[in-house]
Amino acid sequence: MASVIIAGVGSYAPARVVTNQELAQRVETSDEWIFSRSGIRERHIAADDEACSDLAIKAAQAALLDANMTAADVDLLIVATATPDYPLPATACVVQHKLGVPPHAACFDIAAACSGFVYALEIAYGQLLTGRYKCALIIGAEKLSTIVDWSDRTTCVLFGDGGGAAVLKKTDQVGVGIIGSDLGADGELTDYLYTPCGGSRTPTSPATIEAKGHFLKMKGKEIFKNAVRVMEKVAREMVEQNGLTLDQINLVIPHQANVRIVEALAGNLGLPMDRFHLNIDRFGNTSSASIPLALDEARRLGRIKPGDYTLLVAFGAGFTYGSTLIRW
Ligand SMILES: CC(C)(COP(=O)(O)OP(=O)(O)OC[C@H]1O[C@@H](n2cnc3c(N)ncnc32)[C@H](O)[C@@H]1OP(=O)(O)O)[C@@H](O)C(=O)NCCC(=O)NCCS
Repeated sequence: MASVIIAGVGSYAPARVVTNQELAQRVETSDEWIFSRSGIRERHIAADDEACSDLAIKAAQAALLDANMTAADVDLLIVATATPDYPLPATACVVQHKLGVPPHAACFDIAAACSGFVYALEIAYGQLLTGRYKCALIIGAEKLSTIVDWSDRTTCVLFGDGGGAAVLKKTDQVGVGIIGSDLGADGELTDYLYTPCGGSRTPTSPATIEAKGHFLKMKGKEIFKNAVRVMEKVAREMVEQNGLTLDQINLVIPHQANVRIVEALAGNLGLPMDRFHLNIDRFGNTSSASIPLALDEARRLGRIKPGDYTLLVAFGAGFTYGSTLIRW
């Protein structure tokens, strides 16, 4: 029986840090409101000349270094993003060229919003197991600052920019690596979080720009409830399907959207908060970059040791969700 291991992880956050106090100078809000309602203190915002691929490449370089591999080893490259460099072609192809991934590699983007990294993990996992590919580089990268309405206090305080990446390889070792992976979606809830204009439904026009139709629209309360519900469901199912109990999970890395969502999840699962790795206070919600950014940080802080079980749980626009169980 073969398995797929995470051979390396890396992340990158743009240099500029925007604090809640700075936002309070732009919109009617306060550090107290933002922190108490979301757990966020600050977020990183990319420079004008930094695109999604630039964040992706820096995260990928760190992951390759961590895996002791080079871009030449990669034959499957997946970028999960909601903020690609261009509508066409895929950001993965831009990354491939600049990073030096060989031309025989398959390169494509996936659109699963904040669940993008766990979706990419599942795809790479399946493809590596077939033996069709040898080394996958998966990246979650976002420049959300370009689709946030900076005059809308209900959304602009929540999001940030960044990138996270992982290198995946097949191994003959048994009982390590990706133990289980499960994805889902509920397309009935597409209008909970979406950008109404700029696609084929409502192409860009002077009127769509005037109406601010290219920025994120969000139903915060509805998302909150569904996020807690689906993350609890997928976490329980993943653990049970693999013959484990929740108390055997050493660390949960949840999508970082709101610390109160994680607190509600922890309460429902009966797990203490110290079993969750959180960095939302310093990064905000970075969508597909959120889980790999937190995973990389948790590893560097020594919160993940050989033999540990780590559970990734995600939800996002779509409404997409998923979980991955890893043994190190
Ligand atoms: C968005 C969210 C933080 C709002 O928290 P909440 O407790 O539900 O707050 P409410 O929406 O009830 O807003 C309460 C009040 O604060 C106001 N408010 C909203 N944003 C504010 C801000 N940045 N600063 C100050 N006040 C704000 C609202 O206008 C509202 O005022 P009102 O009662 O006079 O109408 C929370 O619902 C959430 O995190 N939802 C999930 C969002 C998410 O995860 N999105 C990404 C999915 S991947």
